[in-house]
Amino acid sequence: MAEQQAAEHPALRAARAAYQAAFGERAEGQQGPLTLAWAPGRVNLIGEHTDYNDGWVLPVAVDRVAVLAGRKRSDGVVQLFSTHHQEAASFTLDDLTPDNAARRGADLPGWARYLLGVAAELLGAGCALTGAGAAIAGDVPLGAGMSSSAALEVCAATFFLALAGLEIEPLRVARLCQHAEHHAVGVRVGILDQAASCLGRAGQAILLDCRSLAYEYIPFNLPDAALVVCDTGVRRELAASAYNERRQQCEEAAALLARALAAEGVGSPVTALRDVSPEAFARHAEKLPEPLRRRARHVISENASVQQAAEALRAGDAARFGQLLYESHASLRDDYEVSSAELDAVVEIARQTPGVWGARLTGAGFGGCALVLAKREAVEPLGAALAREYPARAGRQATVYACAVGDGPGVVVGVS
Ligand code: GLA
Repeated sequence: MAEQQAAEHPALRAARAAYQAAFGERAEGQQGPLTLAWAPGRVNLIGEHTDYNDGWVLPVAVDRVAVLAGRKRSDGVVQLFSTHHQEAASFTLDDLTPDNAARRGADLPGWARYLLGVAAELLGAGCALTGAGAAIAGDVPLGAGMSSSAALEVCAATFFLALAGLEIEPLRVARLCQHAEHHAVGVRVGILDQAASCLGRAGQAILLDCRSLAYEYIPFNLPDAALVVCDTGVRRELAASAYNERRQQCEEAAALLARALAAEGVGSPVTALRDVSPEAFARHAEKLPEPLRRRARHVISENASVQQAAEALRAGDAARFGQLLYESHASLRDDYEVSSAELDAVVEIARQTPGVWGARLTGAGFGGCALVLAKREAVEPLGAALAREYPARAGRQATVYACAVGDGPGVVVGVS
């Protein structure tokens, strides 16, 4: 977003207004110009549950952002107001470290823990941060599978760094935000969401190798295509523990396959499922107990699908891309077991809508949202089909968001 545009973006305007409402013109204890920082949510096109297996992902940043508007404080206090939760929270930076972040955040509302976690990681990385008074706003739907949490983390990092006059390269910011989620929130997420937010570029998908962190932009210009995100409206309380359990299962599967492949004495050592080719897996799959076999089969086939999807994108082949989305969904449903009746319903309704190329759950699963790739003219009929059929199958409405592929984080200082 260019500065001019930025100042006019509705979410940034909302953050400025929220700042005025929460702190007034002359906020006590605050100094310096008003600083606005923002960062986008993401939609992962394909490559689900591959990131923490050192594999590949293909996300886009969306044109929806989390925003912080605020000023410095010199006393090390961070005072926050969330427009989403209509709630205030504060913490101090004094002696805050990644190791004590979980304890120091225990009494904070969930949303504030993300900011405390990010501040703790930045301090731990040696950044001399200042306190702040800030309001949080944004138009990434919360908990809907577009990674509102990563958007908030990356936005917080961008804001704290801007106030301190510091710069850090984007993937290092992504790593620190990922660690904030591990330490302060307790979910062992991979790098997908934070990297997608940090690296976002309008009109471009990001092919990221989650081991080396090498990445490549691929233009997202499938002719006549629209990206639609359908929120099932379902949130699963157990998602965090089920997520950590999947991750553990993958590590166990990788260790068993490493042993089997080492005994063969060919190829390089296996340290993650990323190192196991589909051929090697086929030779040794029966050595894995269930459910480890199916978990590994998903990750290994999904990694291959990311490469094929990148090819389809380069070739502008929407039909092939869509087919890979359906296959990914089936694998997430049957082998990885992270789908739900509601997500399956959205995918099935999409499949029956003429002009839809493909659909699948996106993000961690266990509820959340599905991504649909459709011809532009199919978006309206898709919305109508979901409004007609989804409530009967799921007992609730789905919310449909048309998404554009947006830019990464940004900051403006001195706006009024
Ligand atoms: C969540 C995590 C990511 C990734 C996805 C599944 O969004 O935050 O790191 O593991 O689930 O692909």
